[in-house]
Amino acid sequence: MSTLIKIENIKKDYVTGDVTTSVLKGISFEVKDGEFISIMGSSGSGKSTLMYVLGFLDKPTSGKYYFEDQDTSKLDEDKLAEFRNEKIGFIFQSYNLLQRTSVLDNVLLPATYFVGGDLKKAEREARKLLKRVGLGHRIDHRPNQLSGGEQQRVAIVRSLVNNPRLILADEPTGNLDSKSGEEIMEILQDLNNEGRTIIMVTHEKYTAECAKRILHIKDGKIIEDEIVNDRKMANNGDYEK
Ligand SMILES: Nc1ncnc2c1ncn2[C@@H]1O[C@H](COP(=O)(O)OP(=O)(O)O)[C@@H](O)[C@H]1O
Ligand SMILES: [Mg+2]
Repeated sequence: MSTLIKIENIKKDYVTGDVTTSVLKGISFEVKDGEFISIMGSSGSGKSTLMYVLGFLDKPTSGKYYFEDQDTSKLDEDKLAEFRNEKIGFIFQSYNLLQRTSVLDNVLLPATYFVGGDLKKAEREARKLLKRVGLGHRIDHRPNQLSGGEQQRVAIVRSLVNNPRLILADEPTGNLDSKSGEEIMEILQDLNNEGRTIIMVTHEKYTAECAKRILHIKDGKIIEDEIVNDRKMANNGDYEK
């Protein structure tokens, strides 16, 4: 398996006035193509900060970040934006959908920023994916007409529309009841089975154990890198809260 991501001694400080807060305190790991990794830790441990760094939404204070063997500190803003849009799909706890825009147009939004992308093809793909996640009849609805679980499924389809190599999901089941959460995890496991690389943040043990590997983070450091032996499969009903 080829290496998709390599980070070495990543640190992130936030400076507010005279106060510097060290949030990431030297994080190193590698991600191979096809992995499904959970990042698990309590609130405030730095999980979202790490996801922002991995997704080029924020820059580390120091350390090295290689994506597809490229030193990302050498990429300019345009190139980073291109990477972000075309190589990474994002899923957030709060779905982050536009409420006044139809399901289909929400899903197509990243494709409209894909320079050289084929919008017609993206629309065909979007319709197919929406059907696949059970939302074929919701294509013209607005997000606020959907349940939380349905909105998160829309967000998953949006994350896939540019066919990214990597999906970053920050607490994707955090706002959902256990049944809707299980449906989301089943979709993520299916996507990973098809070869998509996934990094997911969670603070729930059961959700974390749906992945193949868990990085435990505490106070801005990885304290354990665990291979999941007794993996939970969402479609077997293994999933619970
Ligand atoms: N933009 C920011 N400025 C200052 N402090 C921040 C900022 N973002 C996050 N923090 C702090 O960094 C710590 C880690 O936050 P975060 O990465 O969101 O943790 P988690 O996602 O694990 O709950 C928290 O103490 C938070 O208050
Ligand atoms: Mg967070």
